[in-house]
Amino acid sequence: MNLAELNRVAEAMVAPGRGILAADESSGTIKKRFDAIGAESSADSRRDYRELLFRSTEAMSKYISGVILYDETIRQNARDGAPLVKVIEKTGALPGIKVDKGLKPLPFCPNEVITEGLDGLRERLVEYRGLGAKFAKWRAVIDIGAGIPTHTCINTNAHALARYAALCQDEGIVPIVEPEVLMDGDHDIDRCYIATEWTLKRVFEQLYDQRVALEGMVLKPNMVVAGKKYARRATVDEVADKTLKVLKACVPAAVPGIAFLSGGQSDEDATAHLDAMNKTGGLPWRLTFSYGRALQAAPQKAWAGRSENVAAAQRAFVHRAMMNSLAALGQWKSELEKKAA
Ligand code: 13P
Repeated sequence: MNLAELNRVAEAMVAPGRGILAADESSGTIKKRFDAIGAESSADSRRDYRELLFRSTEAMSKYISGVILYDETIRQNARDGAPLVKVIEKTGALPGIKVDKGLKPLPFCPNEVITEGLDGLRERLVEYRGLGAKFAKWRAVIDIGAGIPTHTCINTNAHALARYAALCQDEGIVPIVEPEVLMDGDHDIDRCYIATEWTLKRVFEQLYDQRVALEGMVLKPNMVVAGKKYARRATVDEVADKTLKVLKACVPAAVPGIAFLSGGQSDEDATAHLDAMNKTGGLPWRLTFSYGRALQAAPQKAWAGRSENVAAAQRAFVHRAMMNSLAALGQWKSELEKKAA
């Protein structure tokens, strides 16, 4: 393992004022997003949409450090025949790849899931490295509900995350370690805190047991928020305080950076929460974004599957990327949102 090189890439992924674009929706998920905007989902339309993001030069070269791709996309060429990976590299951003194979029911644990994809992973990492991937992503999902999460679910998912992370580092690829505690339930913010703390403790224990070098990874956690179906939404300060508290309790300072998922928060909440945490300052790791929905909802809506809307979609993407870049520096202001509206 070349730890100096892994660390260099991890640091670049969380460079000041930059974050990661999660554009790794599976074909099923992107179809759902396209259905919502009335766009057809074909290999070409998915390529066209993603190409418009990667060719938003202002967003990509100033605010985005890396892009997480899906297997289909890392193999696709732009309209002019250039590989999409090269289009991304030209902007200065790093290409990355989602390597998990999605969620399956966890035996004997009703309503819980395990992430699959370890079989053959080393060989796939070698291939992806050849295609230009500098980092990878694996998402574990922990749900909160009646009697869940269970020890079984948290422990098996933490084990798989660490297996993945160790394989990545052994193949010279920086792992994004993503344990996501979902915000789908009707739980309050304190239950999210407890589940997140429990999950992160187990994840870092497994990373240690499996000899993963913390300096060569990026953590992608959820923020500590109330469930979407819970009556009272927490304030921005409450989310920021509780999220920082759990991270300080669980994440060693050797980790170069933490890049949050947005998880179904509104665009502006995802930005405001990140900003509030960074305004606190004095943290041992860099805090930035690795958003899917909170970066793409606005450009998708503006695009609506029509080529005449490409410029408007790119403007919407630049705006969200810029807002989140400011949040990663603790320099965002809500007035900046209104000006653009
Ligand atoms: P969201 O920001 O939409 O949660 O997506 C991030 C991601 O990569 C989930 O795995």
